[in-house]
Order: sequence, then C-alpha cells, then structure tokens
Amino acid sequence: MQTMTDRHDLATPTLLEASQMSQLEPNAPILRIIGKAPLSGHVPISGAKNSILALMAGTLLSSEGCRIRNVPYLADVQRMGDILETLGVKISRNGEVLDLDTSNLTTNSAPYELVSKMRASFFALGSLLARLGSARMPLPGGCAIGARPVELHVRGLQALGADVQIEHGIVIAHAKSRNGRLQGARIYLDCPSVGATETLMMAATLTEGETIIENAAQEPEVVDLANLCRAMGAKIRGAGTNTIFIDGVDKLHFADFTAIPDRIEAGTFMVAAAITRSTLSMSPVVPWHLTAAISKLQDIGVTVRQDSDNMITVIGGDRYRAVDIETLPYPGFPTDMQAQFMALLTVCEGNGVVTETVFENRLQHVAELNRMGANIRLKNNVAVVTGVPQLSGAPVMATDLRASAALVIAGLAADGETTVMGLHHLDRGYDRIEEKLRNVGAKLYRTTANVTVS
Ligand code: UD1
Repeated sequence: MQTMTDRHDLATPTLLEASQMSQLEPNAPILRIIGKAPLSGHVPISGAKNSILALMAGTLLSSEGCRIRNVPYLADVQRMGDILETLGVKISRNGEVLDLDTSNLTTNSAPYELVSKMRASFFALGSLLARLGSARMPLPGGCAIGARPVELHVRGLQALGADVQIEHGIVIAHAKSRNGRLQGARIYLDCPSVGATETLMMAATLTEGETIIENAAQEPEVVDLANLCRAMGAKIRGAGTNTIFIDGVDKLHFADFTAIPDRIEAGTFMVAAAITRSTLSMSPVVPWHLTAAISKLQDIGVTVRQDSDNMITVIGGDRYRAVDIETLPYPGFPTDMQAQFMALLTVCEGNGVVTETVFENRLQHVAELNRMGANIRLKNNVAVVTGVPQLSGAPVMATDLRASAALVIAGLAADGETTVMGLHHLDRGYDRIEEKLRNVGAKLYRTTANVTVS
C-alpha cells in the first residue's frame, strides 16, 4: 500500500515542457512514478481484454443472452458495452460478471462515433450479420499503430454468401440467400488476422453447411471465442490451429462462460519484475500462453519459475544480455509485448534488434524511451537497442496502449521521477494498474494537479 512517505516523494510539482502541456487536455490525468522502488509479492491477473471484446461480440449470435465471467474494468470493455447497448442489448454488471440480454436487438446498425473509438467493435459485423441476415458497420479507420484494413473480413463474408458494399464509410452487408442465412464456404486468409478469424468464425456458426478457415489466427483469444461459441451450441473444431472447421447450426443458446486470463497483462508484469530486478509472482495465468515471452526473458537472464498450473514467479537478476526480438502471429513473439520488452532491452548489456513485422507503425515509443536516456536507433520497422547502465526519469507521452505500459515499466526502473501522459491509452487495456503495482511496492500516483511548465 502507498505510505505517506511515498506521497511525499510525489508532492513536488512535476515539470512538463510547454510542447507536452499543449498536447494535454485540461485536467488530463498523468501518472507520476518514482523509480527504483523494489517490487515484491503477488499480482492478480485480470481477464483477457482481447478475449472479452470478442466474447461480447459473440453474444450477439443468440437471442438467449450470455453470462461472461472474469471481465476486467477497462475503458474498452465499457465502450464495447456502449456499442452493444445501441444495438438493443441490455447489459448488467456485478463485479467481474457481465450479464448480456440479447433477446431484443433493435437495430442492425452500429454508430460511427463509437466504432471509430475502438476497432475491435467492427468484429461484431460477423455475429450481427449471421443473426439478423444484415448488418451496417462503420469502417473503423486507421489507428495509432497502423492503417489496419479490414478487407480480409469483407472478402471472407462475401465468400460466406454476403453482399457487402461500402458506402460513405459504412460497410453494408446482407446475406444473399432467400432465407437470410449465410452459406458455408472454404476461406483462405492471406495473413492470419486475429480479427478476421474471429469475425468469420462467428459468422460461420449459423451458416448452412460447413465452413473451413485456412491460415487462421491461432491466438488463445481465438480459442476462447471458439469455446464460448461451442458453449452456446456451435460446432467448431480446430481453433488454436491454422485450420478451423465450423459446421453451421440453426441457432445458438445461452452460455455461462469464464474468459481466460490476460497473457499480455501478465507479460507486462513479468517485464516489470525483470526491469526492477525484483521477484513477483502472478496468477491466474495459463503458462503456455506465455511461452514466447518466458523464453525471451530466460535468454535475457531472468529466472521464470512455474509454481503451479496457473501461477508463475519471475525472479530478476543483476546482469542481463541483449536479445533480438521479431514479432509474429501466435505462437510467435506477440506484437502486444514488443514495447514492454524494448523497455527491458534498454538496460540489457549489448545490442538487441527489435523487428516489428505485424504492424507498420508500432515503434513510436522509441522516441519516448530515448527521452529517458535509452539508446535506440530506428530504421523503418527495425529498432536497434543498445543497453545503457541506467534510465533516467522524464516526462513522456504514451502513443498507444502497449507503448503506455512500456513507459510505465521504464519509469519503475528509472532514476528519479517519470511522468506518463496520454493515460487514456493505458486505461483501455490495464485494469487498475496503479493499484496492482502499488500493492507490490511501486511508488506511483495518478494526478492532474500540481503541474508547472518548465
Ligand atoms: C488483434 C488484437 C491486437 C493485436 C493484434 C495482433 C484484439 C481486439 N486486438 O488486433 O491487440 O495486436 O491482433 O496480434 O484482439 N490486416 C490486414 N487486413 C485485414 C485484417 C488485418 O491487412 O483485413 C493486417 C493488419 O493491418 C495487421 C495484421 O494484419 O498489420 C494483423 O492484424 P490483426 O491480426 O487483424 O489484428 P487485430 O485483429 O486488429
């Protein structure tokens, strides 16, 4: 827990540059971190954001509703709920349990203002279309990490017998068959897109006939969505491999389903333990969802112990060696962990080469880490990180969700105070992160006040 002394460290005004102040909304929250506090103890891991968002979209497939458990408190979950509510879903939340009454969908059309704020909501196109026979979904547009097109979703739905037009930025889709149902098809994805796999898998649960999705994404969140659909009565085989078989059924029913733990949140705390040379245990986790991250940590010189089926402990070391990292679809190294590992590489001995292959613009944290004394050179989607003995605290701006986590992690290890701005990114995907970090000894504090311009 935070003590008075910790607060005293944070009582002085934080210094922001005029250019940073101008980027902040009035009263925008900032996170002040006093670095180098040793961490120890246990961190509870929340339900997986990327699963929950897909599961919520999946509930649209049935009129009998769903109960989803292990739902974290996240801005993205709230946003997805807002979108479902505009479609007529009634949602009630009791702690980490979400009840969704999907009996009466009042429209097949999602509003642009909400979809544009969260790309994952576009994935509901598949479930809406399958249930209602038609759907209208605004194109989500690009985002901070890249253009992120959706042509694989669209082409897949066309293969399933949908007429899909894009008019004035809205995807308008309807099933071409007379009975309003989609038709099973063989679909090959040019790349194993997580979102396209999820959109098409949901759509295919209610088709007439069999659908085969080849070169499908194998992420654990895809498997979780398949498991929810199966709990609702869908016939799906092969989720978690690169070929998914779906036998369409006439209708789906109520399910009570618990989401998997968030492997990216767990991985973020693993790196937090490593960079602060601390010992942290965390649960619940599915250790084999973390294989790529654990293997890289071990190569760096961090000890990772598996305590049980759902608990691991990370034990930081004194000296770390640089490693090379290339992001890849699962089971490769996750792009969602790239920024956090780059923060760790900044204090490893030697040069580590980080290659981002999944998104075209996901290295914006490089400039911010360099503000903290890191030595990173960037060319296109490749960053060469040369380790330095010590990071130093600085005011920094989060540019996307995982970049924000990387800056928090760097701040925990840096000398002096780090101020992280742009916290709306952090709040999209980390459930009560300050509380979780403070409970294991970190000194950090969210504030809006006490800011002066240098
Ligand atoms: C999901 C995750 C995100 C993660 C990403 C990759 C959710 C809510 N988000 O995003 O956290 O970083 O997987 O693991 O689950 N692409 C196309 N055309 C398409 C679809 C995708 O070119 O139609 C490209 C994208 O631009 C990107 C790559 O494929 O370069 C991977 O994207 P994708 O797997 O679809 O990511 P998301 O599902 O959006």
